[in-house]
Amino acid sequence: RTKIAQLYADAETLGGQQVTVAGWVKSVRDMKNFGFVTLNDGSCFKDLQVVMNREALANYDEIAHQNVSAALICTGELKLTPDAPQPFELAATQIAVEGVSAPDYPLQKKRATVEFLRTQQHLRPRTNLFRAVFRVRSVAAAAIHRFFQDRGFVYVNTPIITASDCEGAGEMFHVTTIDPANPPLDDKGNVDFSQDFFGTAASLTVSGQLNAENFAMAFGDVYTFGPTFRAENSNTTRHAAEFWMIEPEIAFADLADDMDLAEDMLKYVIRDVMDRCPDELAMLNKFVDKGLIERLTHVANSDFARVTYTDAVKILEDAVAAGHQFDYPVSWGIDLQTEHERFLTEEHFKCPTFVTDYPAEIKAFYMRLNDDGKTVAAADCLVPGIGEIIGGSQREERLEVLERRIAELGMDPEQYKYYLDLRRYGTCKHAGFGLGFERLVMYLTGVGNIRDVLPHPRTVGSCDF
Ligand code: 4AD
Ligand code: MG
Repeated sequence: RTKIAQLYADAETLGGQQVTVAGWVKSVRDMKNFGFVTLNDGSCFKDLQVVMNREALANYDEIAHQNVSAALICTGELKLTPDAPQPFELAATQIAVEGVSAPDYPLQKKRATVEFLRTQQHLRPRTNLFRAVFRVRSVAAAAIHRFFQDRGFVYVNTPIITASDCEGAGEMFHVTTIDPANPPLDDKGNVDFSQDFFGTAASLTVSGQLNAENFAMAFGDVYTFGPTFRAENSNTTRHAAEFWMIEPEIAFADLADDMDLAEDMLKYVIRDVMDRCPDELAMLNKFVDKGLIERLTHVANSDFARVTYTDAVKILEDAVAAGHQFDYPVSWGIDLQTEHERFLTEEHFKCPTFVTDYPAEIKAFYMRLNDDGKTVAAADCLVPGIGEIIGGSQREERLEVLERRIAELGMDPEQYKYYLDLRRYGTCKHAGFGLGFERLVMYLTGVGNIRDVLPHPRTVGSCDF
């Protein structure tokens, strides 16, 4: 059995030979005595044209009546066709029907909307759009691993069930072993969720960072790549309840090192996807985002902008003074909204932009306090079309400062005792970031909705397959 990708890679040697290819029908055209089947096997974006001749194919009529998405196994000679648009075709001498497709197959040749395709989660990977998106997703994942592995980073699998709320935003899904028919009750008679994980409280992780820091204090450079969960009820095009995050953590490193790493990683992944997915990107560039390839080429070859939060707020205030309208008013201290992020990266800098040194009040407890006493060494990377794609920071490595911060925020120090211990036993300057993998895939494909880069999206109102 030969994959279609192999035919394209090796056409010169395989030309003139007998090959067998298994795949799914994209279209069948019957011209009475001869006909064409367009077949795709998922091994590459390109299809294979199978030519059938009534004289050469015993079950010609059976094949001519197949519906879109039938599974076929086709054998015949691979004929090179230097004068045709496609480099070769398969002259079939035998076609076996592995599985017919019912005539009500919902995805006919006409281009369906992404909204309709979301209702067909089990079938949408068979469309050109999703074939392109999920190939890019796979290639980008491999590129990320290669980037870190080549640099000697250790890959750490951090737990999915956890006791600590890394981001402190209270957006955790509870994990429970509680029997709804017989729940433990507290003294007020309410269900006692502090007991829910075999006697202790537990949730699905919002970030592997705290565990990654643990390993960075032994291995130096580490990264995670795994699923994370947020119980935020935000029905937007860039939020999912379940998404994947890449979280490197680097020891003896500061915020500038962290941004350098993030920038190098993004450029590496962009170049790798451009190298390995030319057909997919060409399709996405044609049908999804006409500026995609030009933008990726530019980003891979130019410096990202870097601006402090304080200067970013000034830029936004100047824009308001010049007549630009934001829905959410701008002043020092606000959490930047998507409209602000997009203005900075799309209208002002016109390239990926790191915003650094945010007010401590709007950022997580673990970020390192700057000497001004009011900002922290944070860096978010914003990209045109999406906004925040990376959230990172230098971590607070000073025990007393961290203890004070935990107390100020009213957090339970007991819950963070292991994390605090890292500051007792050989603490060091360190930093890291979290890259939202789906947001990266949106950026790489030009797809505008996070639901369309997740194989099976878990978003508000979607958990059905
Ligand atoms: O900015 P966040 O919340 O940062 C952290 O979780 C840190 N602990 C990371 C670290 O320093 N190790 O999330 C990081 C990234 C965001 O920039 C965004 O790309 C993505 O995760 N993200 C989401 N993606 C999809 N759906 C959601 N609900 C997301 N929330 C965050
Ligand atoms: Mg963030």
